Amino acid sequence: MRNSKEESQQAAHGGVRTVVVPAAGMGTRFLPATKTVPKELLPVVDTPGIELIAEEAADLGAERLVIVVAPQKQEIMDHFGEFNVLQERLLNRGKEEQAEKVSRANELIDAVAVTQESPLGLGHAVGCAEPALDAEEDAVAVMLPDDLVLPIGVMDKMVRVREEFGGSVLCAFNVTPDEVYNYGVFDVEDAERDIEGVEVKKVRGMVEKPAKEEAPSTLVATGRYLLDRAVFDALGRIEPGKGGELQLTDAIELMIQEGHPVHVVVHRGKRHDLGNPGGYIPANVDFGLRDEKYGPALYPALKEILAEFEAEHPEVLERGQQG
Ligand code: UTP
Repeated sequence: MRNSKEESQQAAHGGVRTVVVPAAGMGTRFLPATKTVPKELLPVVDTPGIELIAEEAADLGAERLVIVVAPQKQEIMDHFGEFNVLQERLLNRGKEEQAEKVSRANELIDAVAVTQESPLGLGHAVGCAEPALDAEEDAVAVMLPDDLVLPIGVMDKMVRVREEFGGSVLCAFNVTPDEVYNYGVFDVEDAERDIEGVEVKKVRGMVEKPAKEEAPSTLVATGRYLLDRAVFDALGRIEPGKGGELQLTDAIELMIQEGHPVHVVVHRGKRHDLGNPGGYIPANVDFGLRDEKYGPALYPALKEILAEFEAEHPEVLERGQQG
């Protein structure tokens, strides 16, 4: 699964050389931890979210991560540095497995930083990455490090859709009608043609956090984008939206209005939102249960915690039965 830096570079395809990872947000939903620890460094079991994203980018065949960091969050980049002293110490003690964990992030992919001076929104953060792109890059991938889209591989499908239809390609996830109010919701129609093995739709528009009755579908945006370079021009022309922030979805909406083709790949897998404790905890349980080392003990421990909780709160069982 894990590509080395060299393998990724050989495998670079579909024009995705660079993956932009916006990581300059304030992480307010994760306070107090994020007073001093960037949320992108919080671990899922033992691996920071940003390293999971680096792994996904390397699997896609990208050559480098452009990580958008805040002035006070530069330590995110340290994670991709070299730790020669630590590694040597571990190797001297016969701890090869741990030494491999130390070097992995650095070996996966080249990571460079661009600074977003103040948190003016996701759209603004993506815009900050433009000067880091090469002139011949006509598309860029964006992966949000607090959004795990599983199993890994949806961006490969998005690359295929761009090869077929051009323009920009987003990733959609199906939720229940009661959940749409939390998300950017897609208004879609059938795509011009089918692509084997990919559920693809053409996007007519997007509605940000609609009421259930006003939602055009139950397909919502996830943190994976394959954007035509034209997005930077659109980002330069939008006004601040919700919360005074420059929203990436507003730029995409503008592009759709101007006739730029936008499609979505409907992802039928799993998703974990690492951006708040309510999503982060289940992600850790999910990864923890599947972890060779911790899974076997975690399973009975969780069962015990659940049994104790159910004895104290029998109403949860009734609620569960009601669905
Ligand atoms: P979020 O809205 O999930 O991150 O943005 P946040 O702003 O840190 O979260 P809260 O609401 O305060 O808890 C999605 C991604 O975009 C980045 C974030 O770091 C996150 O990875 N982002 C957001 C930026 O890089 N710059 C911004 O101005 C806003």
